Amino acid sequence: MTVPRVRPAAVADRVPPGPPRRAMPGVLLRLVRDRLGLMTSAVTEYGDAVRVAAGPRTMYIFNHPDHAKHVLADNAANYHKGLGLQQARRALGDGLLTSEGELWRKQRRTIQPAFQSARIAAQAGAVAEEATALVARLRERCGTGPVDVTGALTGLTLGVLGRTLLDADLGAFATVGHAFEAVQDQAMFEMVSLSMVPTWVPLPKQLRFRRAKGELRRVVDQLVADRGPGWSPEADDVVSRLVASTRAEADPAVGARRLHDELVTLLLAGHETTASTLGWSLYLVDRHPEVARRLRDEARTVLGDRPPVHDDLRRLTYTAMVVQEAMRLYPPVWILTRQALRDDEVGGYRVPAGSDVLVSPYTLHRNAAYWDEPDRFDPERFDPARPNERPRYAYIPFGAGPRFCVGNNLGMMEAVFVLALIARDLRLRAVPGRAVVPEPMLSLRIRGGLHMTVHEA
Ligand code: HEM
Repeated sequence: MTVPRVRPAAVADRVPPGPPRRAMPGVLLRLVRDRLGLMTSAVTEYGDAVRVAAGPRTMYIFNHPDHAKHVLADNAANYHKGLGLQQARRALGDGLLTSEGELWRKQRRTIQPAFQSARIAAQAGAVAEEATALVARLRERCGTGPVDVTGALTGLTLGVLGRTLLDADLGAFATVGHAFEAVQDQAMFEMVSLSMVPTWVPLPKQLRFRRAKGELRRVVDQLVADRGPGWSPEADDVVSRLVASTRAEADPAVGARRLHDELVTLLLAGHETTASTLGWSLYLVDRHPEVARRLRDEARTVLGDRPPVHDDLRRLTYTAMVVQEAMRLYPPVWILTRQALRDDEVGGYRVPAGSDVLVSPYTLHRNAAYWDEPDRFDPERFDPARPNERPRYAYIPFGAGPRFCVGNNLGMMEAVFVLALIARDLRLRAVPGRAVVPEPMLSLRIRGGLHMTVHEA
């Protein structure tokens, strides 16, 4: 993997436009209450580069594909992970998502090979089994009233990670989902309060966070202990690779902590993103009966009544288009945050060292310069047979550059299998009168969860 070199110091002196200082109280309030609205109105009002002075910090929002390319890929070496992730680090430690520099490079080299598409193909059977079990569980709820679909999807994605990464039954650790929620809550609180409230202040959130951290430690330690001698030094799966690499650490305590941090990170990064993709996909499909029909037809033609296998991914093209379009409108990672290490120049604007730099897939994916009728749900945009004239960085649901998502193949396989099986066998309908509102936390959730009734297809 090549890491781009740092460019020479910035030369431009231009400062991007943005709300005046007197608007700051309103900006801070919206940061707490309406983050998507704040981002959207900032780029609508001021354009593709916006400077927002908020309390002690200055944020630069970039909404042009070239800017995203510069920050995330071309000059990635000049940036560390920023707001939100810096805070999440208190819970995740130095796992792949939050570590930097040489440690990150070493971890990425260890973990990435285990996620390559050939290796992921070997996990297709486990993913299909978990997906089939989910459909069976949902089917039992036919005609029984609304189901907490978000909860069911989170259970599924944790189950898949347990099977594929750890060979364990994560269903037995029902508290994990709640523990991750508490971690996110706290990370988000620190992000929107711009870390101005010291972490020793005993707020209820803070106490929940500490309990959750302890809970995650207990669960992961248990998972590792259960595998015990089952680890094989020859095996090439994620955990065996991690165990081998952390055992090489001179200090065993450091090795144990690294192993723990990596596993907690993979569980967090891998479950909510995929559950969010599926939740938004199901919501959108329900609102577009024609899309629901095409999905069902494709699933029945390709799969008949058998479970999916890896090779089906090539044939479930419409299903993949629906997933991609859902991730365009509702990208699970709605914001990518970075902090500039040295002065930089982005799109002709000066970005001083220490600034918070924000690239939002949510606003980028709805930038009218690159998407016709950007707010319309239209899976045809991703028809592989259609010419694609969009710049590569106009669509970045899995990020870009060296920090590109390591689990994208697994996440996509899971989303396509689950959506195809649900579309083939069931019809999930939104509960009338219950609004579906995005809630931008570390991932883009549905506020209060998605609740749907279940019907036979
Ligand atoms: C549809 C599902 C998924 C989406 C949309 C998604 C999205 C992303 C995005 C946008 C990033 C980049 C974050 C940044 O640059 O700050 C990322 C990084 C990451 N993702 Fe995913 N992800 C998904 C599934 C998964 C899965 C299944 C796993 C693991 C099992 C995973 C593990 C990771 C890790 C470890 C990183 C950090 C990589 C690094 O910094 O080197 N993700 N993901």
